[in-house]
Amino acid sequence: MQEALFQQYAQLVQQHFGIQLPLEKKALLESRLFKLLNERHGQPGFGDEREFLNYVLEDASGQALTLLSEAITTHHTFFMREADHFDFFGKQVLPYLESCIRDGDVRTWCAACSSGEESYTLAMIMADFFALRGPEWETTLLATDLSQDILDVARSGVYTGEAVRSLPAQWQAEFFHRLPDGNYQVSDRLKQKVLYRKFNLMTPVFPFRKPFHVIFCRNVMIYFDTPTRDALVRKFYDFLEPGGFLFVGHSEVIDRQSAPFEYVMPSVYRKK
Ligand SMILES: C[S@@+](CC[C@H](N)C(=O)[O-])C[C@H]1O[C@@H](n2cnc3c(N)ncnc32)[C@H](O)[C@@H]1O
Repeated sequence: MQEALFQQYAQLVQQHFGIQLPLEKKALLESRLFKLLNERHGQPGFGDEREFLNYVLEDASGQALTLLSEAITTHHTFFMREADHFDFFGKQVLPYLESCIRDGDVRTWCAACSSGEESYTLAMIMADFFALRGPEWETTLLATDLSQDILDVARSGVYTGEAVRSLPAQWQAEFFHRLPDGNYQVSDRLKQKVLYRKFNLMTPVFPFRKPFHVIFCRNVMIYFDTPTRDALVRKFYDFLEPGGFLFVGHSEVIDRQSAPFEYVMPSVYRKK
């Protein structure tokens, strides 16, 4: 791919999804587009990389842009990733929320949830914590991602035995059942606790009616440039309750000039 064409793709991807494509990612983009174009070989708009770019630019339905987003996103995740966050969430954040929320309406948002391991982990911790606290604490959490394909994986809640065996035995027994093919599926009871929705973090105006008590947005801002990251952190700040917590990935540092968060521990911040 010519560098000029790559730069057009990079600009489009940055503008719509916030994701930066530095020149080192050219080979990656080429291989992902190769796969996409091959899969749709012969369909109008899918001739070569130039034709597909024109198709994306002209397609008013947004479907071509969605295909591009599916091609460029990376969904790597696993259960209990950055486990100290979950420990802190269960031992510090939930007791704090229980002490100050009266109606059980705990609002947690797992932004960029990928295939669901992170959101189901949060749901299991909440289920454990609120188990004996009465029906008003039967809360759900919101989990969003840009990619519809990966949300379908999250909704199905099917994981390999190897992935599920990394979880505590009590959770394996309580929240999963074994499928005939040897994989494991999340129980319907746990699935009901997570509301999966497609959501682009670049959406200019966030549509949420009420602020959240907790936002997890981990390992996605690394793909964004500094102004994009700063603007998003500011929005998270605005959409948190006072005293609410923001969790970002361990390799992500937020600039507290963009929002007056209090530092709690590595990659955990709190709205004053
Ligand atoms: C590497 S995964 C991180 C998953 C999980 N949060 C974790 O830490 O393991 C990044 C996810 O961010 C999503 N993503 C990328 N750009 C996005 C955007 N603009 N809006 C929402 N989600 C986005 C991708 O689809 C992908 O599933």
